[in-house]
Order: sequence, then structure tokens, then C-alpha cells
Amino acid sequence: MKILALNGSHRGETGYTQWLLDKLAEGATEAGGLFETVVLAKQHIKPCTGCDVCHTPQHLYRCIYEQEDDVKAIFTKMKAADILIYASPVYIFSISGLMKTFLDRFNSTAGGGLCLTKSGLFFQKVDKEVYSKPFVVLTCCGNVEQETVKNVLTYFETFAKFLDAPIAGQLVRKSVGMLESAQSNGEEGQTGVIAEVVAAYQQAGRELATRGKITPRTQKCANRQLLGIPFLDLLMKFRFFKKLALQKADKEHGE
Ligand SMILES: Cc1cc2nc3c(=O)[nH]c(=O)nc-3n(C[C@H](O)[C@H](O)[C@H](O)COP(=O)(O)O)c2cc1C
Repeated sequence: MKILALNGSHRGETGYTQWLLDKLAEGATEAGGLFETVVLAKQHIKPCTGCDVCHTPQHLYRCIYEQEDDVKAIFTKMKAADILIYASPVYIFSISGLMKTFLDRFNSTAGGGLCLTKSGLFFQKVDKEVYSKPFVVLTCCGNVEQETVKNVLTYFETFAKFLDAPIAGQLVRKSVGMLESAQSNGEEGQTGVIAEVVAAYQQAGRELATRGKITPRTQKCANRQLLGIPFLDLLMKFRFFKKLALQKADKEHGE
């Protein structure tokens, strides 16, 4: 399996998104897969201006920037991959601007009349070789609430339906700040729940390389809350519990 990850973090290789992708890569390569990451922050990606020259007969499906930036080369890598990973931190309740800027460039490859997608939706004809293949969404954020990642997940669910691209996994890493010591201290920083989550990412990589998708069990483990409080997701539904947690946090900060 050839797995191509697109890292949409503006912090590029130094961020948590890359760190999580590296864990997937460890598992995937160990299982015999080929894993490559394109760090979008290191690429030259011009924003689509909506000029629509790519939809005129003289320049059909060719962006005016195709000789000027790196997008065409990334599309070529995407064509050669079996599985794609769209990895983006949550930026103000959505995907990063960098990831969106890149995805907007798909516009130049679509057009030429309507088609009916597998899910029964009308859509433009698209270059299926680029993006109509199984993909994983990986997102990470500082907040502990599932609500924070809702738009990112919904965005890629819509994407999957219109582009006939099956979702092979959804990796959602909340409370990334808690990974700080694991990120800076390597294996020594990986204890308890964090070590289990890291192992789940490696397992997810193995599963992508061997089965082409992440099993629900592994995904559940990779996405679990990092605070080792039993029934945390259930407790978080109660305002009373949240107020108690806030009081405790305030005390710890000496307020
Ligand atoms: C511009 C910006 C907006 C952010 N918005 C949110 C947000 O809406 N919700 C959230 O939980 N975290 C938010 N964060 C925190 C990031 O999601 C988090 O730090 C993530 O790990 C960054 O990924 P990276 O380390 O790969 O860059 C934001 C960070 C930045 C820089």
C-alpha cells in the first residue's frame, strides 16, 4: 500500500499533526507499506483566484499556476497513492487555511458536465485518479470537546460523498497540549493513556498498510480522551461536573 499524508498544519514538521503522522508512518512502514508525508507548509501553494481559466477550452483543467507552484506535483503524488491522509489541526472550528487553500485547487481538475455520485448526488465530473480513493481524516486540537472537531469531520464527510472517496478512518486527537512531554521527551514521555494512544496510532498505520482502513477498535483507542478519568465523555455532559472541574483548575492555578 502506498499511503500519502498531506500535513496541513502551518507549523509544519514541528507541530503535533506531524508527530501523530509519524506514529502512523512507524506502524505502516513496519507492516511493509510505503508512507510519505507532504508538508504543505513547505510547499509553494498559490490560492485559487476563481479566474476560471481552467474551465476554458484553451486551458482546460490546467490551472494558470501549474508551472509556478508545487500543486501539480502534489496531485501527481496523490494519483500514485492507494490511500490519502488529510491531516489538519482545528483552526477556529474548521480545517486550517493552508489545507483549505490546497483543497481549493482541486477546482481546476473538475468540470466538463455533471455526473451522479455513488451516493446519488449531482456533481461536476472530477479527476477521480487524484482524489476518489480511500482517505483518512486526521485532526487535532487543543480543546477537549467533541464539538470542536465537528466541522472538520462533517467537511470531509461531505467531501467523501461528492468525490466518491470512501473514508478509511477518522483520527481525532483532542487535548493535544497533554502530548507536550511525549512529543519533547520521546518514548520516555509516553506513559499510561498517552502510551496507549501512541500504540493505537502505530496500529492504525499497520492496518492502513495491510487492510487499507482503520478498524473501529483501533480508532476508538486512538481517539480516547487523554485524561484518564473513567466515563469522562459521559461526565462532560453535565454542567455540574464541568463547574467542579473548573473550580479544581482555578485552585491549581492559585486563583
Ligand atoms: C489559528 C489557530 C486557531 C486554532 N483554533 C482552535 C480551535 O478552534 N479549537 C481548538 O480546540 N484548538 C484550536 N487551535 C489549537 C490547535 O488546533 C492545536 O494547537 C493543534 O495542535 C495545532 O496543530 P499543530 O501542532 O500541528 O500545528 C488553534 C490554533 C491556531 C494556531
